[in-house]
Amino acid sequence: MAPHAETSLFDTSGYSPPENVISELKKSLRLFNSSAGAVKWISEGPQIVDSHDRESDEHDFVLQLSLDDIQEIEDAFISFKATTLPLNKLQAENFPLPTLSSRIRKLSVGLVDQHPYFIIRGLKPQWFSKYKNVVIFTGIASHVGTKRALAPGDPNVLHHVTNIPISSEKECTTYRGPANRTIALPFHTDYGSILSLYVLSRPASGGAFHLADIHDITSRIARTRPDILETLRKPYIMVNPKIEGGFDERPLLFTQASGRLAIQASRSRIFGTATRLRPNYLPSLTAKQIEAVDALHAAGQEVSRRFDFKSGDMMFCNNLRLMHARDSFLDGNEDENTTKRYLLRLILHDERNDSRWDVPDKLKNTWKELYDHEDEEEIFTIHPELFSFKAGH
Ligand SMILES: [Fe+2]
Repeated sequence: MAPHAETSLFDTSGYSPPENVISELKKSLRLFNSSAGAVKWISEGPQIVDSHDRESDEHDFVLQLSLDDIQEIEDAFISFKATTLPLNKLQAENFPLPTLSSRIRKLSVGLVDQHPYFIIRGLKPQWFSKYKNVVIFTGIASHVGTKRALAPGDPNVLHHVTNIPISSEKECTTYRGPANRTIALPFHTDYGSILSLYVLSRPASGGAFHLADIHDITSRIARTRPDILETLRKPYIMVNPKIEGGFDERPLLFTQASGRLAIQASRSRIFGTATRLRPNYLPSLTAKQIEAVDALHAAGQEVSRRFDFKSGDMMFCNNLRLMHARDSFLDGNEDENTTKRYLLRLILHDERNDSRWDVPDKLKNTWKELYDHEDEEEIFTIHPELFSFKAGH
């Protein structure tokens, strides 16, 4: 068992894959057989993320803020505050970053086909009020993407990734998903183009974040089990929480017009979670389908890059290309002068001409559900609230 695993809730959903299943899958993926059929639609060789559970080699993809940059962000905050606009009107034009914007923009455009993630480092969230942190995160994010995602049927655009215990009498009626627990999250994607996280504070121990490139994951699987990739390219039936009884039927793995691969695989939409099982109205997953989703996690662990975020880090990553996971963790307490793991999440898309996001045809309806709304529909909850099942990942 992982050192920080929660033990209070027995998960029968399949959201968290059993460790023995993953170690067997890893064994089978390591049995490289050079005579196994090559998979033509996978480009050879490692991609950007190709290390083995080591800390990131970050220098080129960390925008380290100088004191002048931080002053520019402070000025942008004052400028936005003076407009008295609501948070849902926060776009790049009313969060002006005269010198930083072009540097952020360069990294943002590169998410599509150059480097699929970057980090902005140097902020001190503990110096700011919660409101100011939300404005700064949303303001900087507006220079990365022009649209913020809303999960179908959930008006909350800002989500709080932090452990939120609930009282035992509310346990039967309140949804508390993996994002609001301390458990490890297996490799998955959220829904949308750009996953953005702002680290407000760190746990006492554990909680490392991991990224794995779908090109590396598929290359690893293709060496011994190309059949798994074929399964991932066939339709899965998964929950669409927009309406009662809703579902999507689509593959998890796509080849884009550019030849690049794309992945959209939310384990909660496929398996459900410990507190919201896959609904009975959906047909059961086949053993092959379950194995294929678990293989994404097993291969992801083999090719991933590890990040021990610092407080104040803002990370932006291509959520069509990178899968992410996190380790279980232990929060601190005030007596020991330690803090809790607390991240804010926004999911973005960029419609500016130079971005060239390439969304697979079979995901176009999903993207319409996520991004086709007016700014006024977006609600920002400033203080921690539980993720709804609709916004889960
Ligand atoms: Fe996630």
